[in-house]
Amino acid sequence: MKGLSLVSLLDQSWAILKTLQSAKRYERTITLATVDLRSQPQACLVVLRSINRANGEFEFHTDADSLKFASLKKEPKAQILIWRPELSVQLRISVEIDLQCDDESRKLWAQVPRPSQISYGKSPPTGRPISAPFEYENMASIDKFVVARCTIQKIDFLSLSQAHHRAQFLRTDNWAGQWISP
Ligand SMILES: Cc1cc2nc3c(=O)[nH]c(=O)nc-3n(C[C@H](O)[C@H](O)[C@H](O)COP(=O)(O)O)c2cc1C
Repeated sequence: MKGLSLVSLLDQSWAILKTLQSAKRYERTITLATVDLRSQPQACLVVLRSINRANGEFEFHTDADSLKFASLKKEPKAQILIWRPELSVQLRISVEIDLQCDDESRKLWAQVPRPSQISYGKSPPTGRPISAPFEYENMASIDKFVVARCTIQKIDFLSLSQAHHRAQFLRTDNWAGQWISP
């Protein structure tokens, strides 16, 4: 295919993240894969909150009682999966995650809209068994609000449009990129 370059694929990867981050709340989701404390893979949706291409970072928010929080405390590595059907592009983004539950994250809390604040802090805590569907309370607790800062280590780009093509970009390679047989 003419005009296809590693640089254009890296740009497209960031354009996809930018489009997602600017979308409406429930269209801003990315799939997060972690490995739990029993070595069991766990995948779930999280909302992409912000991106920073200069630093190769992005953020999502989570609850300090969630399984993913405990998993990432032990093993601060994860993979993000994104599929854009209109582009026929899959992105698999490997990240290292810094979980922030400190003065910085507390400053951000004020900017979290009230309907979103209720996602942080439940009684009993998220993931615990309850006796009926609504036997819990939303605590909207700043103490349970966690900013997960994800530092991208690798981007795996796969396009299934026309002639299939794939490339990988590594932080350690300063994002120069490498073509990979798809
Ligand atoms: C559309 C959608 C968006 C979600 N966004 C988040 C999010 O931003 N952060 C989060 O921790 N969980 C989010 N969740 C819930 C997670 O997918 C997951 O079910 C929950 O956090 C429990 O995960 P755990 O097994 O790590 O405790 C979202 C779920 C859906 C369906």
